[in-house]
Amino acid sequence: MPRPIDALIHTDALAHNLAAARAHAPDARLWAVVKADAYGHGIERAFAGLRGADGFALLDLDEAQRLRALDWRGPILLLEGVFEPRDLELCSRLDLWHAVHCDQQIDWLARHKTQAPHRVFLKLNSGMNRLGFRPAAFRQAWARLNALPQVEEISLMTHFSDADGPRGIAHQLAAFNTATHDLPGERSLSNSAAILRHMGPDLAGALASDWVRAGILCYGSAPDFPDHDIAHWQLQPAMTLRSRLIGTQDLQPGDTVGYGSSFTADRAMRIGVVACGYADGYPRLCPTGTPVLVDGVRCRTVGRVSMDMLTVDLAPVPGAGIGSPVTLWGRGPGDSLLPIDEVAAAAGTIGYELMCALARRVPVAVA
Ligand SMILES: Cc1ncc(COP(=O)(O)O)c(C=O)c1O
Repeated sequence: MPRPIDALIHTDALAHNLAAARAHAPDARLWAVVKADAYGHGIERAFAGLRGADGFALLDLDEAQRLRALDWRGPILLLEGVFEPRDLELCSRLDLWHAVHCDQQIDWLARHKTQAPHRVFLKLNSGMNRLGFRPAAFRQAWARLNALPQVEEISLMTHFSDADGPRGIAHQLAAFNTATHDLPGERSLSNSAAILRHMGPDLAGALASDWVRAGILCYGSAPDFPDHDIAHWQLQPAMTLRSRLIGTQDLQPGDTVGYGSSFTADRAMRIGVVACGYADGYPRLCPTGTPVLVDGVRCRTVGRVSMDMLTVDLAPVPGAGIGSPVTLWGRGPGDSLLPIDEVAAAAGTIGYELMCALARRVPVAVA
C-alpha cells in the first residue's frame, strides 16, 4: 500500500469560485489565471472546473500548449509576454495574446515575420515597479506598437500591488487613467483582491475593467486573509490535502515530541502521527498549534514538522487511532473544512505558496 496521502482537486469548487468572480464583475470578461500549473492544481485538472472562463492567463509557453492540447480555442494571454524573439513564432502558431512590458519586446515584434497580426496587452507600471512601462514612456510604446503591421490590436493593462490591503488601488488607478485616458483599447486591471474588494454591482464607483484576471480566488483562498476569509467571500477550497494517522503515542508530563524537542507535554496526553511532512509540501514552519482536522474535528499540531510526518494532539478526538482520516487543508469528512489560508498564516505565508508547493510525490485526483 502506498503512503496514505493524496490531494483532491474539486472541480465543482473551481466552477463555483469562477461564478463568484463573475458575480463581482458581471460586465467584464474573465481571465482564469492558471500560471504555475494552475497554482499547483494542474492545468489539465483545473481546466475541467474553469472552462467557463472567457480566457486563460499564464506565463509558460509549455502551459499554453497544454491548454491548446485540451482543445481550448479561446483566448490565452501570456502575462509576462515573450522571453525571447523566437517565442513569437509559437504565439503566431498557437494564437496567443501577449503582454508587452518593455522596449525589447517591441523590437522583437518589429522583426517578427507573421501572416497573422498579434493581439497585445501593453503593460503600464502604475506603481508596482515590477514589469511595465512607466507613465512617461507609455505613450511612445503605444505609438510604436500601433505603427507595426505585426500588431492587430492593443489592449492596456496594469497590476495592483495593494488591492488586498489598506493602501488600496486609488493611486495606481489614477496613474493608469492619466496615462491611458485618450488611448483606445480594452482595459485589464483587476486581480482577485481587486475583483472582490473593489468591484461589484452594489459597489458605488466600482472599478471598471473589460477583462479581469482572477487567480487565487478561483482556487478557494481569500486574497485578503485574515481581513476576510473564504466564508466571507463565499469561496470554496479547490484543493484538499489529506492523509491518515499511522501511529499514536501516549505521553507523560515532561515527554517531548519530535526533532529539537520543541514541544513538551505538560500533562498526560495522546498524540497522533500523520503521514505528511515537508517533503509533501506541508510547511516546516508551521508551529505547534497549527490547525488540522482529525476525523473532521479541529485539532492542533504539536512539535516540529519533519520530512514525512507531523504530530497532532488527539485530545479533541479520543476515538481516533491508526487509519483515522486527517485533513491538512481543504474539505474534511462531513461538512468539515480547513481553509488553506489558516495553515498558511500559521506558517507566516499565504495560501498561494502552499498550493503551489504541493510536492510531486503526492498523488493527485480529481474529485
Ligand atoms: C499580472 C497578473 N495578473 C493577475 C494575477 C492574479 O493574481 P491573483 O492570484 O492575486 O488573483 C497575477 C498573479 O500574480 C499577475 O501576476
